[in-house]
Amino acid sequence: MYIVLLGPPGTGKGTQAKRIAEQLGIAHVSTGDMFREAAASGTALGTRAKSYMDRGELVPDEVTLGMLGERLKQQDAQGGAIFDGFPRTQPQAAALDESLAKQGKSVNIALHITASDDEVVRRLSGRWLCPNCGEIYQEASRPPRQPGLCDACGASLTQREDDRAEVVRQRLEKQRPARDLLNHYRGQTKLVDIDGEQGVEAVTKQLADAIRNSTQEPAKS
Ligand code: AP5
Repeated sequence: MYIVLLGPPGTGKGTQAKRIAEQLGIAHVSTGDMFREAAASGTALGTRAKSYMDRGELVPDEVTLGMLGERLKQQDAQGGAIFDGFPRTQPQAAALDESLAKQGKSVNIALHITASDDEVVRRLSGRWLCPNCGEIYQEASRPPRQPGLCDACGASLTQREDDRAEVVRQRLEKQRPARDLLNHYRGQTKLVDIDGEQGVEAVTKQLADAIRNSTQEPAKS
């Protein structure tokens, strides 16, 4: 099964993708995580991507698609994947369709998570991440048991550079899913809107219900 998770920054894509990937036993493919890993390793791709991420802008399609193409070839993505933050543009969506079609596969469902700007800013200003196992925390809604330490593996938690208030504003301005991207999946009757303003468990349930329905009948938007 191939699932696309769309939505503005901070609406819970990473939190939910991790859960769904574990539940369904499919790969979690996050282009944001891949860019951050490349930037931390100091590769040419990472350095280029970082210059866009620091300004709250999308990384150009040719960079993103080159990296994604390599990721799709890996073994763990052969049985299915949930794409977290990819695609972000209609050309990226078309390229994903083409790439999967070559293997006789296709995107099964595109889940579009939404939440208000106020809620997103509140969430991102209190987000903490585990650099070791990828757990995501939020000071108010999901604090770690011990401040600054990951519940799952005990590593010291960090914050993302692009969660600074001024960059979050840029991301919200420049990175909402574009109409042509949403229409790409709407036209394929694969788009389902999800209310991301609810609590984590309630959002997970909405996503699970939508995925289950998609295996039984064509998705409605
Ligand atoms: P990426 O890492 O994908 O960032 P993003 O899309 O801005 O999304 P976030 O990771 O900030 O938020 P999220 O929706 O995953 O929310 P989370 O679950 O963490 O991309 C980073 C950058 O890379 C981009 O800015 C861009 O430059 C570049 N990039 C990436 N992909 C690209 C592509 N395809 N093309 C071009 N450029 C690309 O949750 C946020 C917080 O809220 C957490 O603290 C969490 O604990 C909390 N939370 C989550 N759900 C809830 C809930 N229901 N209730 C209360 N709190 C919640």
